[in-house]
Amino acid sequence: MTTQTTLNVPLVDLRASYLPVKEQILTEFENIFDKMHLFLGENIRNFEQEFTNYCKAHAGLACSNGTDALTLALKAFDFPCGFEAIVPSHTFFATVESVHHAGGTPVMIDIDPDTYCMDPNRIEDAISEKTKVIVPVHIYGQCADMDAIKTIAQKHNLHVIEDAAQAHGSFYKGQTAGSLADAAAFSFYFTKNLGAFGETGFCTAATDDVFNRMQLLRHHGHSGKFDHDIIGYNFRPDELQAAILRAKLPHLDDNNRKRRDIAAQYDAAFANLDIKTPIVAEHNIPNYHCYVIQTPNRDDLVAHLGKHNIGTGIHYKNPVHVQPAVQTIAHRAMPMPVTESVCANCVTLPCYPELTSDQVTHVIDAVRSFF
Ligand SMILES: Cc1ncc(COP(=O)(O)O)c(C=O)c1O
Repeated sequence: MTTQTTLNVPLVDLRASYLPVKEQILTEFENIFDKMHLFLGENIRNFEQEFTNYCKAHAGLACSNGTDALTLALKAFDFPCGFEAIVPSHTFFATVESVHHAGGTPVMIDIDPDTYCMDPNRIEDAISEKTKVIVPVHIYGQCADMDAIKTIAQKHNLHVIEDAAQAHGSFYKGQTAGSLADAAAFSFYFTKNLGAFGETGFCTAATDDVFNRMQLLRHHGHSGKFDHDIIGYNFRPDELQAAILRAKLPHLDDNNRKRRDIAAQYDAAFANLDIKTPIVAEHNIPNYHCYVIQTPNRDDLVAHLGKHNIGTGIHYKNPVHVQPAVQTIAHRAMPMPVTESVCANCVTLPCYPELTSDQVTHVIDAVRSFF
């Protein structure tokens, strides 16, 4: 074990994810710079088709980032000002922020203690006459219980929008994330399982009407070069990032398989420790965007792993409903015992396809030596 302490295991390794696609990306960059068609060109169009097909969604379009994708998806339904959206509090801040940007009021609910996704049993208590939409988050790359959520949505005449920002290539009952609801939003932030080397996002839509509105909203409401039909945004994606995403997409499934394999090794190695390892619902195949464990000694474990040159993350340290910014906007928060406990105990370990077996062993040994 002493020789292994020299190994470095960062939480993410962007360079390692670049090397397999480097030549393809650089060739494509040259083509783009030769033509100087920098946005909404052939790379975007092709990527939109390819990722829509990948998700088996009805339609899809790229945009500036995942936060804007969520805002676009929410705005596409033209909900009345002050509408309420039911969201989990255990998520990245953008889920709640985008509801506010879209003119809505976030209503935050607790999560399931096993999957860490929105707990469907908490939804009905949060519904009011202003509720229009439920936004489940496929947190850490494991899908929320969409059938239970959609049953409640149908009963109360609500829409469902997936926050699939972390769920590229995750499956729920054999269906791909992004094809499970009325619309979905993805992030291609560079740490994601499918990441650009900059910013890009993506929306899918289950109907042409929603898709057409997303398309108008994305680009200043342009219906023709000199015509603006609705007030929109500048949420344009760019060609360079689309070329990167096109190069990486064919590797996504294989990379997700490698993540699942590393997760299985961690699960087995930590089985008899005072650790809660990830629990996967029977119907789910997660993409392990984050491999998150819970332990009451989280901060000591983080320090111990740091001494062994192992990077860790905390997703998330403070739930959204306690963030100072949220206290300044209209919102509601339901009781959050599970969310608060998970935030106090969770730690994310390195889990990405480029990890070598020596690095995986180093993480396992270091975690085991702590306990
Ligand atoms: C759950 C979730 N929603 C939304 C977003 C926002 O995506 P972006 O950073 O691309 O704006 C993220 C990104 O981290 C996320 O993890």
